Amino acid sequence: MPSPDTPYIRNHWYVAGWSSEFGEGFTTATILEQDIVLYRTDGDVVAFQDRCPHRALPLSMGKRIGDAIQCGYHGLTFGPDGGCIRVPGQKSIPPQAWVRRYPTHERHGIVWIWMGEDDLADPADIFDLSQLSDSAWAAVQGDALKFRSNYLNVADNLCDPAHVSFVHPTTLGNASSEDVPVKAKRNGRTVEVSRWIRDGEPIGFFRAYGGFEGHVDRWHYYYLHSPCIAVIDFGSADAALALPPERRSEGVQIFALHFMTPVDATTTIDRWMHIRNTAIDDASAGAKISDLLRIAFAEDKAILEAVQRTELKPSDREPVRVAIDSGANIYRRIIREMLAEETPHAEAAE
Ligand code: FES
Ligand SMILES: [Fe+2]
Repeated sequence: MPSPDTPYIRNHWYVAGWSSEFGEGFTTATILEQDIVLYRTDGDVVAFQDRCPHRALPLSMGKRIGDAIQCGYHGLTFGPDGGCIRVPGQKSIPPQAWVRRYPTHERHGIVWIWMGEDDLADPADIFDLSQLSDSAWAAVQGDALKFRSNYLNVADNLCDPAHVSFVHPTTLGNASSEDVPVKAKRNGRTVEVSRWIRDGEPIGFFRAYGGFEGHVDRWHYYYLHSPCIAVIDFGSADAALALPPERRSEGVQIFALHFMTPVDATTTIDRWMHIRNTAIDDASAGAKISDLLRIAFAEDKAILEAVQRTELKPSDREPVRVAIDSGANIYRRIIREMLAEETPHAEAAE
């Protein structure tokens, strides 16, 4: 059962993994505290609850029999739809002998899994970004980073441009942005937080990638699609161009995408990737961006894990809130609304 105080949103397409993580053998994952076993049949990825309905052995400890999965304890066998097709030692199949199958869908090299009510699973709702299918942009998949942190804290970090000056001083931020105000607004279930730093020193990232030496205009737009997907649009352009926001794609623009998969109350997998509009045929440019982001995200990991450890300790203080928290505040409000929609009594309980 999920921890009562962790508000998981179930009716949502989560990332189960990059397509390359799945083959004919079993892959296991824990998502929203549910253990899941996944494998490919005829190219499609099937996902089952990793628990035999007989005596609860994880099915991933069994084996494949064609497209079916056979439990490693007493041999109950389940077809790719989750129905039991064999009970060794008897001819009849008890009606309760089935395993939960989770809807999956593969798009843009990502396997998505629906954790909510089956009837509501619509692949049209899966996150998309036009640049992912645009040949003028190059996409690179990064890592599956494991944070020992609740997903809400990870999400806060992903709609928070203010931290980059302090957490990422050599890569994504520098002192010129410390006191630039952030603007936060809500668009449906998306939080948008942004800021522009005009005519400042380039950050380390755009010195290393982009080659800027003179002053630049630099932007950060954080789009947090609740509950678990963040798109960070950041870039730089020669300050002499004085680009207005709507023409920022004329500069060097990168989208860093984060797909958060909540594992349990204190663990989140952050699968990240990036998309760029320059040097798109140069694989080494993609690798360089990955290396720079890897440094930055390790810095986030250290911060978020320390925050989680501290939060778990007793305290008689309420956290102080300041102006830069506006994005996170909007996000938490959206989560409360989504939760109330799924479980009508949840908001009152909170
Ligand atoms: S536990 Fe799976 S068949 Fe008995
Ligand atoms: Fe960060």
